[in-house]
Amino acid sequence: AGKRTEIRPFGPQAIADAAALIRAGQTVAVPTETVYGLAADATNARAVARIYEAKGRPSFNPLIVHVPDLAAAARLGQLSEEARALAEQHWPGPLTLVVPLAPDSPVASLVTAGLPTIALRVPAHPAMRALLEASGRPLAAPSANASGRISPTRAEHVLASLEGRIALVIDGGPSAHGLESTIVAFTGGAPRLLRPGPIEIPEAALVEASLVEAPGMLASHYAPAKPLRLNATDRRQGEWLIGFGEVGGDVSLSPSGNLGEAAARLFDLLHQADAGPRPAIAVAPVPDIGVGRAINDRLARAAAPRP
Ligand code: TXA
Ligand code: MG
Repeated sequence: AGKRTEIRPFGPQAIADAAALIRAGQTVAVPTETVYGLAADATNARAVARIYEAKGRPSFNPLIVHVPDLAAAARLGQLSEEARALAEQHWPGPLTLVVPLAPDSPVASLVTAGLPTIALRVPAHPAMRALLEASGRPLAAPSANASGRISPTRAEHVLASLEGRIALVIDGGPSAHGLESTIVAFTGGAPRLLRPGPIEIPEAALVEASLVEAPGMLASHYAPAKPLRLNATDRRQGEWLIGFGEVGGDVSLSPSGNLGEAAARLFDLLHQADAGPRPAIAVAPVPDIGVGRAINDRLARAAAPRP
């Protein structure tokens, strides 16, 4: 803490410097297609501990490990036929699979918080892919925000909660999806949806998971500092209203009612509302279909009573 955090635009030199930091056991914030991640070498326990320190994250909450491809994933975890089929359909992309840990997995046990399972993702964003290649390490990377806060979809959001706590942020502009990856568990029995996200999984294939199964899915999470009212169709005194479709608001997730646009803008508008002058936030109703389900999942958590 107390040191300056550098922001560098995504490019070859920034990636080379970031890779050197990773290999030296440091953390680096890097854009992905979902949200910005705080990356460290997943095989280095000391480096992984720095992620938990920077975020103030409870160490029982395991991290997602990012790898360049399916073959690399299969060295860290045991993917069933079914898991492989889903991976082949969506990787690289915003899908995370929780699978049994491989017997000889080189990943530090702090990454999985001691669980016999591991969360794996092959990201699509060129910056994260370049960092994987340049560092040659599997990268543990949770969202690059202080624990319990809104996930970052811009480099500035990372600074808002981690300034002085990390050495470097690579700036790749706003995240394309704006919501964290869909998480599906293949750990025996039917596959389970642990977190709804940008990728929709056919209902028939899934059982809804209990909240305890993904330790990070605590009811209050993704929370702004200010109180948040949901399904608002009007602005009450002291509120900053975030609209959608017909509900105009002070700003809008999507004036035309487009859910993909709303997902990409959600965290940015929550960050802005939190930083703005009004003491409370209200958000218009968002239809609970398609990626709207992931949006409503995040909004419900943002509005939940704080621990
Ligand atoms: O889009 C994303 O997934 C972003 C980007 C950076 O890749 N990462 C992300 O990581 O959202 P994080 O740490 O904020 O969320 C990881 C979630 C948590 O809810 C955690 O509990 C769950 O994944 N998780 C990780 N390993 C698990 C495991 N072995 N079993 C069950 N849940 C697990
Ligand atoms: Mg997170």
